[in-house]
Amino acid sequence: MEKHVKLEILDKIAIVAIDRQEALNALNTELIMELGAVFDEISKNDSVGCVIIKGEGKAFVAGADIAEMLVKNQEEGEIFGRDTSQVFLKISNYKKPVIAAVNGYALGGGLELALACDIRYASKKAKFGFPELGLGITPGFSGTQRLPRLVGSSIAKEMIFSSAIIDADEAYRIGLVNKVFDGENLFDECLKLAKKISENGQIALEYAKTAIDDGLKKSLEEGIALENKLFGMCFATEDQKEGMQAFLDKRPAVFKNK
Ligand code: COA
Repeated sequence: MEKHVKLEILDKIAIVAIDRQEALNALNTELIMELGAVFDEISKNDSVGCVIIKGEGKAFVAGADIAEMLVKNQEEGEIFGRDTSQVFLKISNYKKPVIAAVNGYALGGGLELALACDIRYASKKAKFGFPELGLGITPGFSGTQRLPRLVGSSIAKEMIFSSAIIDADEAYRIGLVNKVFDGENLFDECLKLAKKISENGQIALEYAKTAIDDGLKKSLEEGIALENKLFGMCFATEDQKEGMQAFLDKRPAVFKNK
Protein backbone atom coordinates (compact mmCIF):
# COMPACT_ATOMS: atom_id res chain seq x y z
CA MET A 1 0.00 0.00 0.00
CA GLU A 2 1.62 3.22 -1.16
CA LYS A 3 1.94 6.04 1.37
CA HIS A 4 2.96 8.99 -0.79
CA VAL A 5 1.79 8.03 -4.29
CA LYS A 6 -1.90 7.41 -4.94
CA LEU A 7 -3.23 5.72 -8.05
CA GLU A 8 -6.78 6.11 -9.28
CA ILE A 9 -8.08 4.70 -12.56
CA LEU A 10 -10.97 6.68 -14.01
CA ASP A 11 -12.29 4.94 -17.10
CA LYS A 12 -9.16 4.63 -19.30
CA ILE A 13 -7.16 7.32 -17.49
CA ALA A 14 -4.69 6.57 -14.70
CA ILE A 15 -4.23 9.45 -12.25
CA VAL A 16 -1.05 9.36 -10.20
CA ALA A 17 -1.09 11.82 -7.28
CA ILE A 18 2.09 12.61 -5.36
CA ASP A 19 1.17 13.39 -1.81
CA ARG A 20 3.87 14.30 0.68
CA GLN A 21 2.61 17.76 1.31
CA GLU A 22 4.53 18.36 4.55
CA ALA A 23 7.70 18.54 2.38
CA LEU A 24 6.05 20.06 -0.72
CA ASN A 25 6.04 16.55 -2.24
CA ALA A 26 9.87 16.33 -2.13
CA LEU A 27 11.14 13.02 -3.48
CA ASN A 28 12.58 10.76 -0.81
CA THR A 29 13.65 7.17 -1.53
CA GLU A 30 10.37 5.73 -0.28
CA LEU A 31 8.30 7.98 -2.55
CA ILE A 32 10.49 7.28 -5.58
CA MET A 33 10.19 3.49 -5.07
CA GLU A 34 6.42 3.86 -4.70
CA LEU A 35 6.27 5.81 -7.95
CA GLY A 36 8.13 2.99 -9.72
CA ALA A 37 5.76 0.39 -8.24
CA VAL A 38 2.73 2.41 -9.35
CA PHE A 39 4.06 2.53 -12.92
CA ASP A 40 4.66 -1.26 -12.81
CA GLU A 41 1.01 -1.65 -11.85
CA ILE A 42 -0.19 0.73 -14.59
CA SER A 43 1.94 -1.12 -17.18
CA LYS A 44 0.06 -4.35 -16.42
CA ASN A 45 -3.32 -2.69 -17.06
CA ASP A 46 -3.99 -2.76 -20.80
CA SER A 47 -7.16 -0.68 -20.46
CA VAL A 48 -5.14 2.45 -19.56
CA GLY A 49 -4.81 4.85 -22.50
CA CYS A 50 -3.17 7.82 -20.78
CA VAL A 51 -1.63 8.74 -17.42
CA ILE A 52 -1.74 12.06 -15.57
CA ILE A 53 0.81 12.83 -12.84
CA LYS A 54 -0.13 15.59 -10.42
CA GLY A 55 1.10 16.94 -7.10
CA GLU A 56 -1.27 17.37 -4.14
CA GLY A 57 -1.34 20.72 -2.36
CA LYS A 58 0.59 23.78 -3.49
CA ALA A 59 3.54 22.04 -5.17
CA PHE A 60 3.99 19.63 -8.05
CA VAL A 61 7.27 18.37 -6.56
CA ALA A 62 9.79 20.70 -4.86
CA GLY A 63 12.77 18.51 -5.75
CA ALA A 64 14.67 15.63 -4.25
CA ASP A 65 14.55 15.46 -0.45
CA ILE A 66 17.43 17.68 0.70
CA ALA A 67 17.43 16.35 4.29
CA GLU A 68 17.83 12.79 3.00
CA MET A 69 20.58 13.78 0.55
CA LEU A 70 22.62 15.78 3.09
CA VAL A 71 24.33 12.73 4.61
CA LYS A 72 24.98 10.75 1.44
CA ASN A 73 28.53 9.93 0.35
CA GLN A 74 29.80 9.67 -3.24
CA GLU A 75 28.66 6.10 -3.80
CA GLU A 76 25.26 6.66 -2.21
CA GLY A 77 24.80 9.82 -4.27
CA GLU A 78 25.50 7.95 -7.49
CA ILE A 79 23.16 5.10 -6.56
CA PHE A 80 20.39 7.58 -5.61
CA GLY A 81 20.73 9.30 -9.00
CA ARG A 82 20.83 6.01 -10.90
CA ASP A 83 17.87 4.41 -9.12
CA THR A 84 15.71 7.51 -9.54
CA SER A 85 16.69 7.91 -13.19
CA GLN A 86 15.60 4.28 -13.73
CA VAL A 87 12.17 5.08 -12.28
CA PHE A 88 11.93 8.17 -14.51
CA LEU A 89 12.96 6.02 -17.52
CA LYS A 90 10.14 3.66 -16.61
CA ILE A 91 7.80 6.67 -16.95
CA SER A 92 9.24 8.01 -20.22
CA ASN A 93 9.42 4.49 -21.73
CA TYR A 94 5.86 3.61 -20.69
CA LYS A 95 4.03 2.75 -23.91
CA LYS A 96 1.15 5.22 -23.48
CA PRO A 97 1.37 9.01 -23.06
CA VAL A 98 2.01 10.56 -19.66
CA ILE A 99 0.87 14.12 -18.92
CA ALA A 100 2.39 16.20 -16.11
CA ALA A 101 -0.19 18.50 -14.48
CA VAL A 102 2.19 21.07 -12.98
CA ASN A 103 0.16 22.91 -10.36
CA GLY A 104 2.97 24.62 -8.42
CA TYR A 105 6.68 24.21 -7.75
CA ALA A 106 8.46 21.85 -10.17
CA LEU A 107 12.03 22.26 -8.97
CA GLY A 108 15.06 20.02 -9.37
CA GLY A 109 13.83 16.42 -9.26
CA GLY A 110 10.28 17.73 -9.68
CA LEU A 111 11.20 19.37 -12.96
CA GLU A 112 13.05 16.17 -13.94
CA LEU A 113 9.88 14.20 -13.23
CA ALA A 114 7.87 16.60 -15.43
CA LEU A 115 10.55 16.27 -18.13
CA ALA A 116 10.15 12.47 -18.07
CA CYS A 117 6.51 12.96 -19.09
CA ASP A 118 5.41 13.31 -22.72
CA ILE A 119 3.36 16.49 -22.28
CA ARG A 120 3.42 19.23 -19.65
CA TYR A 121 0.37 21.38 -18.83
CA ALA A 122 0.96 24.07 -16.20
CA SER A 123 -1.08 26.28 -13.91
CA LYS A 124 -0.30 30.01 -13.92
CA LYS A 125 1.11 29.48 -10.40
CA ALA A 126 3.69 26.90 -11.54
CA LYS A 127 7.38 27.64 -11.03
CA PHE A 128 10.22 25.78 -12.71
CA GLY A 129 13.93 25.62 -12.08
CA PHE A 130 17.03 23.67 -11.18
CA PRO A 131 18.26 24.94 -7.76
CA GLU A 132 20.89 22.15 -7.59
CA LEU A 133 24.04 24.20 -8.28
CA GLY A 134 23.08 26.41 -5.33
CA LEU A 135 23.16 23.24 -3.19
CA GLY A 136 26.56 22.19 -4.47
CA ILE A 137 25.30 19.39 -6.72
CA THR A 138 24.35 18.91 -10.37
CA PRO A 139 20.86 17.85 -11.43
CA GLY A 140 20.97 14.09 -10.87
CA PHE A 141 17.74 12.55 -12.14
CA SER A 142 18.40 13.04 -15.90
CA GLY A 143 17.77 16.79 -16.06
CA THR A 144 21.10 17.59 -17.74
CA GLN A 145 20.06 15.20 -20.53
CA ARG A 146 16.33 15.78 -20.88
CA LEU A 147 16.21 19.60 -20.59
CA PRO A 148 18.63 20.36 -23.48
CA ARG A 149 16.86 17.80 -25.66
CA LEU A 150 13.60 19.68 -25.07
CA VAL A 151 14.56 23.37 -25.05
CA GLY A 152 18.06 23.36 -26.60
CA SER A 153 21.43 23.40 -24.88
CA SER A 154 21.79 27.18 -24.57
CA ILE A 155 18.52 27.75 -22.68
CA ALA A 156 19.16 24.57 -20.64
CA LYS A 157 22.62 25.82 -19.67
CA GLU A 158 21.23 29.22 -18.66
CA MET A 159 18.61 27.58 -16.42
CA ILE A 160 20.94 25.00 -14.86
CA PHE A 161 24.02 27.25 -14.44
CA SER A 162 22.03 30.14 -12.93
CA SER A 163 19.52 28.15 -10.78
CA ALA A 164 16.96 30.72 -11.95
CA ILE A 165 13.34 29.99 -11.13
CA ILE A 166 11.02 30.80 -14.03
CA ASP A 167 7.26 31.23 -14.08
CA ALA A 168 4.71 29.41 -16.25
CA ASP A 169 4.62 32.05 -19.00
CA GLU A 170 8.39 31.91 -19.40
CA ALA A 171 8.28 28.10 -19.34
CA TYR A 172 5.71 28.27 -22.15
CA ARG A 173 7.83 30.76 -24.09
CA ILE A 174 10.88 28.47 -24.08
CA GLY A 175 8.84 25.37 -24.98
CA LEU A 176 9.16 23.71 -21.59
CA VAL A 177 5.38 23.43 -21.15
CA ASN A 178 2.73 22.84 -23.80
CA LYS A 179 -0.02 25.05 -22.35
CA VAL A 180 -0.76 27.26 -19.34
CA PHE A 181 -4.15 27.43 -17.60
CA ASP A 182 -5.75 29.12 -14.60
CA GLY A 183 -5.10 26.88 -11.58
CA GLU A 184 -8.75 25.81 -11.23
CA ASN A 185 -8.88 24.65 -14.88
CA LEU A 186 -5.56 22.80 -15.01
CA PHE A 187 -6.72 19.34 -13.99
CA ASP A 188 -9.89 19.43 -16.13
CA GLU A 189 -7.80 20.42 -19.15
CA CYS A 190 -5.42 17.51 -18.46
CA LEU A 191 -8.43 15.17 -18.17
CA LYS A 192 -9.87 16.50 -21.45
CA LEU A 193 -6.61 15.85 -23.25
CA ALA A 194 -6.20 12.41 -21.64
CA LYS A 195 -9.76 11.47 -22.68
CA LYS A 196 -9.15 12.56 -26.27
CA ILE A 197 -5.89 10.55 -26.35
CA SER A 198 -7.44 7.43 -24.82
CA GLU A 199 -10.36 7.43 -27.29
CA ASN A 200 -7.97 7.07 -30.26
CA GLY A 201 -6.80 3.73 -31.62
CA GLN A 202 -4.49 2.44 -28.88
CA ILE A 203 -2.16 0.41 -31.08
CA ALA A 204 -1.56 3.40 -33.35
CA LEU A 205 -1.04 5.53 -30.22
CA GLU A 206 1.72 3.21 -28.97
CA TYR A 207 3.32 3.12 -32.41
CA ALA A 208 3.22 6.93 -32.64
CA LYS A 209 4.98 7.31 -29.27
CA THR A 210 7.59 4.74 -30.31
CA ALA A 211 8.12 6.43 -33.68
CA ILE A 212 8.70 9.83 -32.05
CA ASP A 213 10.84 8.71 -29.09
CA ASP A 214 12.92 6.05 -30.84
CA GLY A 215 13.10 8.13 -34.03
CA LEU A 216 14.66 11.04 -32.13
CA LYS A 217 17.58 8.76 -31.21
CA LYS A 218 18.25 8.01 -34.91
CA SER A 219 19.26 9.83 -38.08
CA LEU A 220 16.37 11.34 -40.07
CA GLU A 221 16.57 8.52 -42.64
CA GLU A 222 16.59 5.81 -39.96
CA GLY A 223 13.73 7.52 -38.14
CA ILE A 224 11.68 7.65 -41.32
CA ALA A 225 12.41 3.94 -41.92
CA LEU A 226 11.10 3.23 -38.41
CA GLU A 227 7.97 5.26 -39.16
CA ASN A 228 7.49 3.34 -42.44
CA LYS A 229 7.63 0.04 -40.54
CA LEU A 230 5.20 1.11 -37.81
CA PHE A 231 2.84 2.71 -40.37
CA GLY A 232 2.79 -0.59 -42.27
CA MET A 233 2.13 -2.54 -39.06
CA CYS A 234 -1.01 -0.45 -38.50
CA PHE A 235 -2.50 -2.02 -41.63
CA ALA A 236 -2.32 -5.43 -39.95
CA THR A 237 -4.74 -4.25 -37.23
CA GLU A 238 -8.53 -4.35 -37.01
CA ASP A 239 -8.36 -0.76 -35.76
CA GLN A 240 -7.14 0.50 -39.13
CA LYS A 241 -10.05 -1.15 -40.95
CA GLU A 242 -12.52 0.12 -38.36
CA GLY A 243 -11.10 3.67 -38.24
CA MET A 244 -11.24 4.10 -41.99
CA GLN A 245 -14.60 2.33 -42.45
CA ALA A 246 -16.10 4.52 -39.70
CA PHE A 247 -14.90 7.63 -41.52
CA LEU A 248 -16.52 6.46 -44.78
CA ASP A 249 -19.72 5.50 -42.90
CA LYS A 250 -19.75 8.95 -41.22
CA ARG A 251 -19.90 7.41 -37.72
CA PRO A 252 -17.52 7.40 -34.72
CA ALA A 253 -14.96 4.58 -34.79
CA VAL A 254 -15.27 1.82 -32.20
CA PHE A 255 -11.73 0.57 -31.72
CA LYS A 256 -11.11 -2.96 -30.44
CA ASN A 257 -7.42 -2.19 -29.96
CA LYS A 258 -6.52 -5.29 -31.92
N1 COA B 1 13.59 18.65 0.38
C1 COA B 1 13.21 18.52 1.67
N2 COA B 1 12.28 19.30 2.24
C2 COA B 1 11.72 20.26 1.48
C3 COA B 1 12.08 20.46 0.14
C4 COA B 1 13.05 19.59 -0.41
N3 COA B 1 13.42 19.66 -1.70
N4 COA B 1 11.36 21.49 -0.36
C5 COA B 1 10.57 21.93 0.66
N5 COA B 1 10.79 21.19 1.77
C6 COA B 1 10.15 21.33 3.07
C7 COA B 1 10.74 22.52 3.83
O1 COA B 1 11.93 22.17 4.47
C8 COA B 1 9.59 22.83 4.78
O2 COA B 1 9.65 21.91 5.84
P1 COA B 1 9.37 22.41 7.37
O3 COA B 1 7.95 22.89 7.34
O4 COA B 1 9.59 21.17 8.18
O5 COA B 1 10.34 23.52 7.62
C9 COA B 1 8.35 22.50 3.98
O6 COA B 1 8.79 21.65 2.91
C10 COA B 1 7.70 23.73 3.35
O7 COA B 1 8.70 24.42 2.63
P2 COA B 1 9.00 25.98 2.82
O8 COA B 1 10.41 26.22 2.36
O9 COA B 1 8.66 26.42 4.20
O10 COA B 1 7.94 26.59 1.80
P3 COA B 1 8.02 27.99 1.03
O11 COA B 1 6.70 28.16 0.38
O12 COA B 1 8.53 29.05 1.91
O13 COA B 1 9.16 27.78 -0.10
C11 COA B 1 10.23 26.57 -1.89
C12 COA B 1 8.91 26.88 -1.14
C13 COA B 1 9.92 25.48 -2.90
C14 COA B 1 10.74 27.82 -2.60
C15 COA B 1 11.29 26.07 -0.89
O14 COA B 1 10.71 25.05 -0.08
C16 COA B 1 12.53 25.49 -1.52
O15 COA B 1 13.36 26.23 -1.99
N6 COA B 1 12.65 24.15 -1.51
C17 COA B 1 13.81 23.46 -2.00
C18 COA B 1 13.81 23.41 -3.51
C19 COA B 1 15.06 22.75 -4.04
O16 COA B 1 16.16 23.20 -3.85
N7 COA B 1 14.85 21.64 -4.75
C20 COA B 1 15.90 20.91 -5.42
C21 COA B 1 16.47 19.88 -4.54
S1 COA B 1 17.77 19.01 -5.40
